[in-house]
Amino acid sequence: MKTFYIETFGCQMNAHDSEKVVGTLMAQGYTQVETPDEAELVFYNTCSIRDKAEQKVFSRLQQFKKDGKGKKFAVLGCVAQQEGERIFEKAPHVSLVCGSASYTKLPDLLVQLETGNKRVTGLSLDTDQTFDTPLTRRDNPYRAYITIIEGCDKSCAYCVVPMTRGPERSRTSVSVMKEAGDLARAGYTEIQLLGQNVNSYRDPSAAGWDFAKLLDEAGRVPGIRRVRFTTSHPRDFVKEIIDAIGENPALCNHVHLPVQSGSSKVLDAMQRQYTRDEYMRRIEWMKSARRPIAISTDIIVGFPGETEADFEQTLALLDEVGYDSIFSFKYSQRPNTPALRLDGHVPEEEKTRRLMILQEKQRAIQIKQNAVYVAQVEECLVEGFNQATGQWIGRTSQNKTLNFLRRGGDDDLRGRYVEARVTRAGPNSLAGECVN
Ligand code: 5AD
Ligand code: SF4
Repeated sequence: MKTFYIETFGCQMNAHDSEKVVGTLMAQGYTQVETPDEAELVFYNTCSIRDKAEQKVFSRLQQFKKDGKGKKFAVLGCVAQQEGERIFEKAPHVSLVCGSASYTKLPDLLVQLETGNKRVTGLSLDTDQTFDTPLTRRDNPYRAYITIIEGCDKSCAYCVVPMTRGPERSRTSVSVMKEAGDLARAGYTEIQLLGQNVNSYRDPSAAGWDFAKLLDEAGRVPGIRRVRFTTSHPRDFVKEIIDAIGENPALCNHVHLPVQSGSSKVLDAMQRQYTRDEYMRRIEWMKSARRPIAISTDIIVGFPGETEADFEQTLALLDEVGYDSIFSFKYSQRPNTPALRLDGHVPEEEKTRRLMILQEKQRAIQIKQNAVYVAQVEECLVEGFNQATGQWIGRTSQNKTLNFLRRGGDDDLRGRYVEARVTRAGPNSLAGECVN
């Protein structure tokens, strides 16, 4: 019996890639185990978006430097693509390095490993990759990821992704819709359309669907009750997307629209290709949509050249938009990115200070935003049960966690859609009671 362990870092794209890798390995006769100790083959599917993420894999590998005998180690994902064969120098006990565009070659690469080849690589970015992944082993029994576009053609000055995931390639609408239909028949009710920039989706087949059309059609697949998508780029985010959400109730009323900074000067230095005003226009579309839409974003503080005044514009933007949640990061220097050459690098302590202020402000905003839901009834997809509190864990269409109690009835609610009345609101979640 051949055993493997896999640990995944980074974004949903990586999580979904790991699901494809697991399916591929199982089809090759491998068995997945829960700890690296039990495994003959240890995979790390890595992220290099920030230095901290990149360091994680090397600290994991370090642990096995001495007592990893008899095991083989494989580095997949963005660090693999970025560092390539240098990984063999940094961690000599690694024997396979493979980027995401080469996962369809894994069966071949594994044969090379098994025949004793000590340094096997799959690093080509001119990909012959197929999006059709019949072997995917999905982790979540209710929500399924579907890749609609790979890679990124933008050139944000801070970002490694165009280098680690290569140029944009859209999948045909026929292939996407087939996977959505198959998933619905297999019992999934929620799908999440994935890509580094889903808004620039362009159907390569004659049908020529754009993203708004694909999104709308995905929401019309019988059996699919919720459709989410990630991630968006403001420059390619068109009003038709909001119109589709307004009209099609299966499309979740939540949009994640990364802004990165509230200062047009910083946005320009970041090569984001939009101004603060242009971003705010998209926010206005959401605010005047037919259904209320929750909005979340990503923010980087301490980008080179960011002054206190620029940072204050980001703080003001938080109030202006009233985000439901944010992901916020200190700028991290990445290899081979244009931002390395910029002047005005912000000291680490200053980045930390700005991040704390930003997060504190956002926490206060979330308390205010979430209080609005108290006394409202929300539909939740039940994702789990918390033994300690006796609460079911649900998620609303707006992507809020709603922990709720149910009086009477002891059937398992997981995977079901129930209605719950919100009785309390905190900064990060809602609490309530089931009304079904
Ligand atoms: N430093 C800090 N944050 C970054 N992100 C991307 N690159 C960097 C970097 N070099 C953030 C952006 C992006 C999110 C996924 O990660 O906010 O939207
Ligand atoms: Fe990390 Fe970006 Fe790669 Fe996702 S695409 S794993 S966020 S570097």
